[in-house]
This record gives sequence, C-alpha cells and structure tokens, in this order.
Amino acid sequence: MNMKKVGFGSKAVHLGQDFDLKTGAHNSPIYQTSTYVFDNVDDAIRFNKDQESGYTYTRFRSPSEAELSKKVALLENGEAGISLGSGLGAISTAIMTLVKGGDHIVASDVLYGCTLTLIEEILSDYGVEFTLVDTTDHDAVKAAIQPNTKIVYLETPCNPTLKITDIKRVSEIAHEHGAKVLVDSTFASPYIQNPLDLGADVVIHSATKYLSGHGNVVAGVVVGSKEFIRKVRMPHLQTLGAVISPFDAWVVMQGMKTLELRMERHCENGMKVAEYLNDHPAVEKVYYPGLPEHPQHELAKKQMNGFGGMISFDLKGGFEAGKALMNSVDMISIATSLGNVDTLIQHSPSMSHFDMTPEERAAVGINEGQVRLSVGVENVEDIISDLDSALDLMEKKIK
Ligand SMILES: Cc1ncc(COP(=O)(O)O)c(C=O)c1O
Repeated sequence: MNMKKVGFGSKAVHLGQDFDLKTGAHNSPIYQTSTYVFDNVDDAIRFNKDQESGYTYTRFRSPSEAELSKKVALLENGEAGISLGSGLGAISTAIMTLVKGGDHIVASDVLYGCTLTLIEEILSDYGVEFTLVDTTDHDAVKAAIQPNTKIVYLETPCNPTLKITDIKRVSEIAHEHGAKVLVDSTFASPYIQNPLDLGADVVIHSATKYLSGHGNVVAGVVVGSKEFIRKVRMPHLQTLGAVISPFDAWVVMQGMKTLELRMERHCENGMKVAEYLNDHPAVEKVYYPGLPEHPQHELAKKQMNGFGGMISFDLKGGFEAGKALMNSVDMISIATSLGNVDTLIQHSPSMSHFDMTPEERAAVGINEGQVRLSVGVENVEDIISDLDSALDLMEKKIK
C-alpha cells in the first residue's frame, strides 16, 4: 500500500514502525541498553563516522528514538527528525545548532516561559543577541532583522495567548534575509498544521504534550532537512546530551497512534468550551483561534486543520479571581502542562509566567486574571459543568 497516500490517522498508526525482524514482535521492542556491540573495529569506525548507519551508544541514537523521529518527520512532511529528552532539550539543541556568539535571533515576544529564559538569559550570556517582536506584525519582523540574524523563532499558536503567526509570510521575510525559521508547533501537533509545508525550515514539538497525549512522559522532537538533523545529532546532541531514553521514545510512539482520534476530540471540545466561556458573565475575553472575534481567525482557518484544544481567557475579577477559580475546579486538574487526555487548568500569571512583572506580562497580553485551559477528551458536558460550578464558586469567594 502506498503509505504516502493514506489518511493522517493511518499514517499516525503505522509510519515509522517496523515489525521486529528478529522475533516478529508486533510492537517494537525497547532496546534498554546503553551501548551496542560491534562485529569488528571497521564497523565501529563506520558507525562512529555516520551515526545514521547503525547504533553505537544510546546518547547518540537508539532504535526507539529512530522510530519516533521517523514517524514525526513523516507526519510533518520533513526529510528527517531527531527526538530528545524534553521539548526544551529539542529547542535548545536546535537553536544551538544554528547560532553562535555574535549571531542574532528574532523571536516572538510571547513564548513558553522557559524558551524566553533560554533566549533572554542563557544564550545572551554566550553572546547571542536577540530582538523580541510581535510576529503577527510583519513590518516589525522585517525591522527586527539584522545582518547577523540567523534565525526567526516563533510559536504558533503561542503559549499562552493563542496568537497565530502567518508562517508562510514570516518565512518569506526571513528567507529574503538568509535567516532560518523555527516553529514550535506544540499547541497544534502535526494533525493541525505542518509548518514545513508553509515554508518554515524547522518544526519543533514538546512531545510531552499532544504527541504522547497522556501526561506520562517528557520528550521533544525536531524535524528539518537531513543535513540540519545530522548536525543536531552530531556534534550537538552528542555533546549537549539532551538524550531521550528508549523507554520514553517508545511511550511517545504508543501515544501517537491515537493522535488523530484525540485531536479531533480536542478540537470539538475546545470549540464548545470556548463558546461556553465566551457567553459567561464572569469572563472578560476568550482567546481561541476558532472564535470569529479572534484577531487571526481567518489566518487560522487557512493555516490550520482545526483550532485545537488550548484556550486562554481573562476573568473580570483579575489576579484574585484567577487564583479563586484554580481552587474551585473539581474534575479538572490544576497543572502547568497541556495536551493531555484530561483537562488541565492554570492561572498563567501565578504559574507559567510568574517570574515576569505584571507590567511585563501586560505588555505581551498576559493579563492578571488570565487562565489557560488545556481542554481534554472527556465528555464536553462534564468539562463545562465543572467549569460552571467552579466559576460560580469563584464569584462567591471573591465577592
Ligand atoms: C509551547 C511549548 N514549547 C515547549 C515546551 C517545553 O516542553 P518540555 O516541558 O517537554 O520541555 C512547553 C512546555 O510547556 C510548551 O508549552
């Protein structure tokens, strides 16, 4: 069967995985070993020169890592992929493969907090310059690019304000200046968008989220050209060491088999919950790309295959209301992660973005009463009923 022509669900189930030739095991075995034995020293020399030709040591490559990377690369229509021990491991290793001291990064002004810290505090200590811009403002992106700009880095949809960046347009602008575009597509997953098809050079996922889907693993994947992925592996992953364990890679592989099913339900539930919140009197504003009033709704319709399960909303009662809502949910869990089968809630100013000042948060649209919801795959009536009771309770608490 031509697996290039089958649907996304079939690809997510089958691609990247071969039945074990040695035993016929239907599910891939986990090679829980640190090192691999060579037949002879010539093999050792060959494998060490070209890690893609065999296995030498689990920090460089393992069969489970290879299977997971191939699956994600195929779903992203990329030439090659590499899996790492966390989303941040994937982000830092990919960026450090492309920039060195004296280079400049243009990055979106709203990013996952630790990614911002990496750019603003860690890489800058090594002499990497940066400019943060609103990547939905194309003139601002153009103006931020300098002769030494090597990459434009963005998330779309971004965490936590759900801003959507036009990947095609930003890629055209970056490429005119010789810069590469890296897209963190964690909020979307390959079911919802394929940034490489839109002109981006590299796509990154925190596989901790939708790819694995069950909140049972921390992992990351990078997809790009063969040449780039080869460099990420050798010498960057080899020396920076953000390795994924064979077991964790295997866990992500299992989760990915149901990616289409889960994403369909996340999108369906996300839309209904966003509409419910939009009509609630205690809610000031809802940020969800599926709502017609979202500033990039038309772009989202064009660029994405569904609007996903991530929603942010501002509560009229500000910071205290945000905290009170957290303490009022029942079935929904207060947790900072996302993309799980179960619904998770967080108050962004006191949780993921606690280390910014209120003024810094306000400047990038993270208001003090802003709550982020990762809508799970439970029955949507139950999610809404839990939110309804929690919002009632919250109003009583802050009166
Ligand atoms: C958009 C985004 N990218 C990257 C990460 C980091 O992923 P990990 O926790 O797997 O390192 C996160 C974590 O929440 C995230 O939300």
